[in-house]
Amino acid sequence: PSNGLARTPPMGWSSWNKFAEAIDDKTVREIADALVRSGLRDAGYVYVNIDDGWQGDRGPDGVLHPNVKFPDMKALADYVHARGLKLGIYSSPGPKTCAGYAGSYGHVEQDARTWAEWGVDYLKYDLCSGEGFYHTAETVRAVYQQMGAALNATRRPIVYSLCEYGRFDVGAWGRDVGGNLWRTTGDIEDSYASMAAIGFDKNGVPRHTGPGGWNDPDMLEVGNGGMTTEEYRTHISLWALMAAPLLMGNDARSMTRDTLALLGNAEVIAIDQDPLGRQGLPVRKRDGMEIWTRPLADGSVAVGLFNRTDTPVAITADWPALGLGDHPKVRDLWAHRSVAPNAAHMVPAHGVVLLRAKP
Ligand code: DGJ
Repeated sequence: PSNGLARTPPMGWSSWNKFAEAIDDKTVREIADALVRSGLRDAGYVYVNIDDGWQGDRGPDGVLHPNVKFPDMKALADYVHARGLKLGIYSSPGPKTCAGYAGSYGHVEQDARTWAEWGVDYLKYDLCSGEGFYHTAETVRAVYQQMGAALNATRRPIVYSLCEYGRFDVGAWGRDVGGNLWRTTGDIEDSYASMAAIGFDKNGVPRHTGPGGWNDPDMLEVGNGGMTTEEYRTHISLWALMAAPLLMGNDARSMTRDTLALLGNAEVIAIDQDPLGRQGLPVRKRDGMEIWTRPLADGSVAVGLFNRTDTPVAITADWPALGLGDHPKVRDLWAHRSVAPNAAHMVPAHGVVLLRAKP
């Protein structure tokens, strides 16, 4: 049963990659303000997602309360909503979350109702603890199904993110349990090796992606400092070509101009958010170079020229071979200019040239 949400991949920010457990109410509010001030909300980044570490204890009635770092979740939701943003939260089907906080085991429907009352708009449900009974496809699917039904029963529109690291062919059934996105991998790290291993090779089964349900290769590391600007450009270009959710994972309160330009490029975001919702694919791989294409709703094609080697290399697109005829109209989405179709593009080490071509 579809909740009608996420017709394009969700965009926003999540606390985990930068803050992990060091997240609190004040920081979340400041991030919300920063999304507005920087223009990134208006560029599409609307979900403000609290990941693991917000949970406190359950009351005698079983109701789950936030910990001292989050004095009033409803007030926080109001604050976020007043800024035209949406609030996300996190839990696990087991008794404990990955970081050891209270999970939703035995309280699934109750927790869904609590979040709906607070005004939560997004749930990431992370497969942690309960190891004894989460080792088969049937039991994993069942716990995700239970929460999906509980969210739907609240009648509040809540985007449902399945985080079980791509196990048991989740893309094949993620939609059926009410999921809007499902992780395809373990955790990303803020390094080129980690990002490239996921981005070039572990992007799920492309045909599972489409309006309402998306392969999720994990949150962005752009701006966290472990990669060069060119490497981060590769990161976001790959995620856009893959129709991946774009969840910023940095400290949005203090972004460099480079980071803002990488996250806020409207032409790249338009590739990610293209309404056709088709996931791009590598069509050619040779000597550390990869050419990726993604068909778009207006008949044009996004083309990524990637260089995975340590030295710059010139790449010329073979348009007829890519099905775009001899003389497509070509635009360079990072340089923000039209380019001649026969141009040889110098692609930096670990870098990319991202083009949009119309036959
Ligand atoms: C594992 C997930 O993959 C991460 O994204 C994060 O949610 C942590 N768990 C939190 O404990």
